Amino acid sequence: MNLLLQNPEQILTINTNGKGYKRGNDLDKIEVLTDHSILIENDTIKDFLPNHTSSKLKFEKVIDCKNNIVLPGLVECHTHLIFSGSRADEFKQKLNGITYEEIAEKGGGINSTVNSVRETSFDDLLTIATTRVQHFIEQGVTTLEIKSGYGLDFENEIKILKVIRQLDKIFPITIIPTFLGAHIISKEFISNRKKYIDLIINKMLPFIIKEKLASACDAFCETSAFTADEVDSIFNKANELGLRCKLHTDQFNSIGGIDVAIKNNALSIDHLEIIPKNEIPKLSELDLVCVLLPGVSYFLKHKYAPAKELIKNNAIVALATDFNPGSSNIKNISLIMSLAALQLGMSIEEIISAYTINSAKALGISKEVGSLEIGKKADLSIFNTNNYSDLIYQAGENLNVKTIKNGKLIYDRSVSGNR
Ligand code: NIG
Ligand code: FE
Repeated sequence: MNLLLQNPEQILTINTNGKGYKRGNDLDKIEVLTDHSILIENDTIKDFLPNHTSSKLKFEKVIDCKNNIVLPGLVECHTHLIFSGSRADEFKQKLNGITYEEIAEKGGGINSTVNSVRETSFDDLLTIATTRVQHFIEQGVTTLEIKSGYGLDFENEIKILKVIRQLDKIFPITIIPTFLGAHIISKEFISNRKKYIDLIINKMLPFIIKEKLASACDAFCETSAFTADEVDSIFNKANELGLRCKLHTDQFNSIGGIDVAIKNNALSIDHLEIIPKNEIPKLSELDLVCVLLPGVSYFLKHKYAPAKELIKNNAIVALATDFNPGSSNIKNISLIMSLAALQLGMSIEEIISAYTINSAKALGISKEVGSLEIGKKADLSIFNTNNYSDLIYQAGENLNVKTIKNGKLIYDRSVSGNR
């Protein structure tokens, strides 16, 4: 089966010549092809044909891309989208000046979502999450990471991971499950933190590996969550069992998370809003990705991560929504991209690299997806504009009209409509 994406105004290849990431100055360099069409064979990108050649050939299926541009399918590499309930009341308190950390100290925050998730059945969680996943697909997302972390006991963490596995069966996109049992210490373990950490190490992680329920192990290294040593012991076990790690760190306090992530060969460190200046050079030549989440800074009225400093220091920078009910109730990728431009100071080209190849790298799959290169998976997103600058200029607007996964059209706005 072959498919031609015919005559788009621009093709953004984000070519890395097989390297699978862009760091430093390279982030700003994206390759724009014009007067070409994309040939897909089965699930793979077969060729970029000059239009004068393709117009003479026959194809089994053709999608007319006039007045559209084509990008790699977007890779959303950090979400917590399995949750129930609402934290609108806490949000209101935050608008009145109470901080995210103060709410957490009073037993609200993550704990209130945990209470709600524990009371919500597998089926109801699945129904709630289904609409959210569809919303990402409608924005051009072909790979979506989803974390657990609102169960915080054996039964409920596994329930969430099984919901994620079911979503992966229902939807044609790639859904990557991340185990975030070490999100916070829930209230029943507060007087015995070690008991919970032992539960993660000796029961949860081995079970998750046996049942293949997660592709990575995440943790939250923060004064209100886990110490660097605690994270280290969890990551040691995860690595021993063959699970790569990711870390929420340097969101409010810098307490050693970066060193632990480096030591454990983590795939990514996420947040970094308050990363101290002297820590930045450590990230210069590493394989690890810095995932920045400007939606969190916006939603919490908090500091923004030093994106330009990180890029200047040759780091691999990615972007994501961090969609969750507390710190970033935002699943609008266009808004995140605009925040990255206007608040992080990233260029449009850097933002596009950060949401495609580098976010794929943060999930360890950038050799297969994240750029349009011959031989890679045919995951693409098609936007209704002539010029890629519109992706950021049209702030908050969803310009995606078609999403293609593994060579198949899985979303077409002209047929399905848009919310
Ligand atoms: O990535 N930082 C910790 N965890 C989430 C927030 C979770 C919540 O507030 O419910 C985050 O920001
Ligand atoms: Fe997060």
